[in-house]
Amino acid sequence: MGTAVITGAGSGMGRATAELYLERDWQVIAVDVSDNPGIESANLHWVKADVRNRESLEAALASAVKAAGGNIDAVANVAGVFPPTTLETFTEENFRFIFDVNVLGVLNVTAACVPHMKPGSAVVNFASVDGFTVSRGQLLYGASKSAVIMITKSLALELAPKGIRVNGIAPGWVATPGNAATGRMEEAAKSIPVGRVAQPSEIAEWVWLLSDPTKAGFVDGETIVISGADVMR
Ligand SMILES: NC(=O)c1ccc[n+]([C@@H]2O[C@H](COP(=O)([O-])OP(=O)(O)OC[C@H]3O[C@@H](n4cnc5c(N)ncnc54)[C@H](O)[C@@H]3O)[C@@H](O)[C@H]2O)c1
Repeated sequence: MGTAVITGAGSGMGRATAELYLERDWQVIAVDVSDNPGIESANLHWVKADVRNRESLEAALASAVKAAGGNIDAVANVAGVFPPTTLETFTEENFRFIFDVNVLGVLNVTAACVPHMKPGSAVVNFASVDGFTVSRGQLLYGASKSAVIMITKSLALELAPKGIRVNGIAPGWVATPGNAATGRMEEAAKSIPVGRVAQPSEIAEWVWLLSDPTKAGFVDGETIVISGADVMR
């Protein structure tokens, strides 16, 4: 049992990850711009904060860490945004939005957590298959997730001397509320070799696995594609 910081816990894979850690009796510090969607647990510390704002994040996290017992054992950087953009539709504003949440957010949260992390702890960053292969209409999102993949490698190198591992997960199609709303999931499943999309809970299991030093202690700087053979690199 330990303490996990999970961003984006208000929805989709972040929520599934928070629920999995809570089920396994961990303390969970959930960071999201939204309110708790109804996760009930005495071990849940809900921090309503924007990952783009380093200063307020650091202050909010420091008090939550104290309440949760003083240390952080796992960090899951799940919060992310994915509005479509092309050369025609990109603006400075949507560039800042996508890169600030998806890239700066990972850096801000990791920087705020590291002072509370001991050897054996781990960070898991959410990239996407779109960070490895090009996806039509995802000009800035794909670039932001490629940045997450490279930041994962750099941070692994930088934090290895502290005994902190940093890995990534690059999901393909996952049955999240956002994807369900597009109405394209059933169609997408037909072209995925394993014949289905992933469930958020099975992605959460990989956060659990990657952050376990007894099972994944030699996996560091890697971003794992979980796509049902849809994307192979
Ligand atoms: N859904 C997919 O199929 C899929 C595929 C590949 C990668 N991903 C990536 O996985 C991650 C989770 O995706 P999802 O579909 O579960 O997301 P989601 O949209 O269901 O949930 C994202 C959560 O992040 C929060 N959030 C957004 N901006 C924030 C900010 N600035 N500060 C704090 N919290 C913020 C939102 O409030 C929301 O609760 C994202 O990084 C996404 O890019 C998703």
